[in-house]
Amino acid sequence: MKPYALICATLAIVCLACQPQSSEENWEVTSPEETLSLHFMLTQKGAPAYILKRGDIVVLDTSVVGGFSFRDQPDLGEGLSVTSSRTNSFSETWDMPWGEQRTVDNSYNELAVDLRETQEPGRSFTITFRVFEDGIGFRYAFPEQEGLEEVVITDEHTHFALTGDHTTWWIPGDWDIYEHLYNTTAFTDIDAISKRDHPNLAQTYIPENAVNTPVTMRTADGLHLSFHEAALYDYAGMTLKVDADNMQWVSELVGGPDDDTKAFKTLPFETPWRTVQVAEKATDLIASKLILNLNEPNQLGDVSWFTPTKYMGIWWEMHLGKSTWDMASGKHGATTENAKRYIDFCAENGIGALLVEGWNTGWERWIGFPDREGVFDFVTPYADYDIQEVVAYGKEKGVNIIMHHETSAAPRTYEQQLDTAFALCESLGIHAVKTGYVGPIIPEGIRHHGQWMVNHYQKVVETAAKHQVAVNAHEPIKATGKRRTWPNIIAREGLRGQEFNAWSVDMNPPEHTLIVPFTRMLGGPIDFTPGIFNIKFDEYKPDNQVNTTLAKQLSLYVLLYSPVQMAADLPEHYEGQPAFQFIRDVAVDWDESVMLNGEVGDYLTIARKERDGDRWFLGSATDEEGRSFSVTLDFLDPDKTYKATTYCDGKDAHWNDNPLAIDIKEQVVDATTELPIVLAPGGGAAVSFVPVDE
Ligand code: NOJ
Ligand code: CA
Repeated sequence: MKPYALICATLAIVCLACQPQSSEENWEVTSPEETLSLHFMLTQKGAPAYILKRGDIVVLDTSVVGGFSFRDQPDLGEGLSVTSSRTNSFSETWDMPWGEQRTVDNSYNELAVDLRETQEPGRSFTITFRVFEDGIGFRYAFPEQEGLEEVVITDEHTHFALTGDHTTWWIPGDWDIYEHLYNTTAFTDIDAISKRDHPNLAQTYIPENAVNTPVTMRTADGLHLSFHEAALYDYAGMTLKVDADNMQWVSELVGGPDDDTKAFKTLPFETPWRTVQVAEKATDLIASKLILNLNEPNQLGDVSWFTPTKYMGIWWEMHLGKSTWDMASGKHGATTENAKRYIDFCAENGIGALLVEGWNTGWERWIGFPDREGVFDFVTPYADYDIQEVVAYGKEKGVNIIMHHETSAAPRTYEQQLDTAFALCESLGIHAVKTGYVGPIIPEGIRHHGQWMVNHYQKVVETAAKHQVAVNAHEPIKATGKRRTWPNIIAREGLRGQEFNAWSVDMNPPEHTLIVPFTRMLGGPIDFTPGIFNIKFDEYKPDNQVNTTLAKQLSLYVLLYSPVQMAADLPEHYEGQPAFQFIRDVAVDWDESVMLNGEVGDYLTIARKERDGDRWFLGSATDEEGRSFSVTLDFLDPDKTYKATTYCDGKDAHWNDNPLAIDIKEQVVDATTELPIVLAPGGGAAVSFVPVDE
């Protein structure tokens, strides 16, 4: 056996073992405990391909990978030979500075295959596969080589060959936005094109019958698969095209500045990881940390200047139409006085932060204005908002202000002001920003999910980090696990959030929040903004409502992980509400998360233990169907008894007919208790467990 190299990182043990080369006929690599095996081969045409198995079951059939089309270059991908190959084993545990658990296990076996064209021009590249217990990742690396300094990639040909017409939870492969409702269909029934004309999306571009990732599938045998990518840097985002004839996904990169141009690269370079998560149980997908593990360790070191927090916002009132972002309307929300009112409410209820939207000049020329360059100013407040006074008032009361930067999708204007904007945050002691990119990107042809914007979002993260600011991006690039490397990436939107309920013609149906944890959230935390108590809000928007019960709104604080968790409703809608106690109590940073049950799109129950404390919280929710089951509380400390406060759907509760009926009860429980949970149609339950000896 070759020597093990031991590398000690902060509280982590890294173990790296170089193993013998694989023989040429048998390029095979298994996961450390041999749950998955990946077989690499060259096809008769000399194209690289792999087969993925779980035990004896074929998960992905012969899937051709490693093909590229370039501008002014012949295609690459056939006529290749393997010049060498290497295998490695790797195992470490690493600590999350904040997160849904404290430590993460990262163990995999790796196979790297070096390939070269046997004919002119003789180009070479490497494919590296990592096989974990819970899935695989692979990526392409182009070394420096003569005659190939720069390439313009016009296509990447990565395939995932399916073994059946699996049930698929998908959103269309939109190059500009992820804010679509999920569809549940067989793979061959996917029809993204029919979603092109969406009345409530200021930007949407769906050029192909493709889906955005993460996209999740269930096979007839009940195996769950999710396809995505990890560590997306300096490259275009990947959508997956439906090739129904050959029953396979085919990569389609997002274009820009024209549809056929995907990425400009200088050699040497590596692509992002292409990932497949494989799980027997649907909830194992949520527990999987594969996407994070395929990212590099923390580059920022100590980020304790960011503390996970609950927050409120001068925000929902604009979505309801009670006030506006701009001042000219005469209904300006972000006034000094209103901010102080919210700060008082936050301080009284243990909510650590307040987001203030509409504080800066420019909002008069926001949505619908084609000429948005140079409009928003990220350092100049409106005349009725005294930013210094508000920040100082918040400090006095223990409430931090969250900065807001709506770029109106004019990223060049934003980049010009980036340093001064973040210097202002630093000078005010503000450590979190929410950014936004509503509208088509200026200039035309650049897409939210293309290479230029991938680099822009990264530039914002790095600039923010220099000023000790954490970023919560809306209309973002998708999450690909970069929060491991850049832990100032705290959350993002990149999905249909709560706000659609306030103004969209198609509001989020009850099943929405039961699909999101198994799809979008496999990429990372979401800023969903739960906690709407005034569920029907008829006084503001009679045709809109939230399609859940009140108890289900509470359950989302546990089910939809985020280190910034909003109490999204207005202070006056929380006043005098006993159920608000759960929001006051619930933690936002976790030591441990336990998946208790769940099926994609149907129901989900998770228990989480707070960091630096002994309390546990449980959330459970269902789609349109009412359900009842019981859960054993064996996650609790067996040596303790707890006061459990349960917030459950009340008698005859129903997401549409009777959403406010809620039963709040206290009982003493321990690790042997079987807790019955009854969920109304569109309902949920939330429970806090506090050790009684506290
Ligand atoms: C879209 C964001 O998703 C929303 O939360 C925000 O209020 C508006 N943009 C304004 O920036
Ligand atoms: Ca949005």
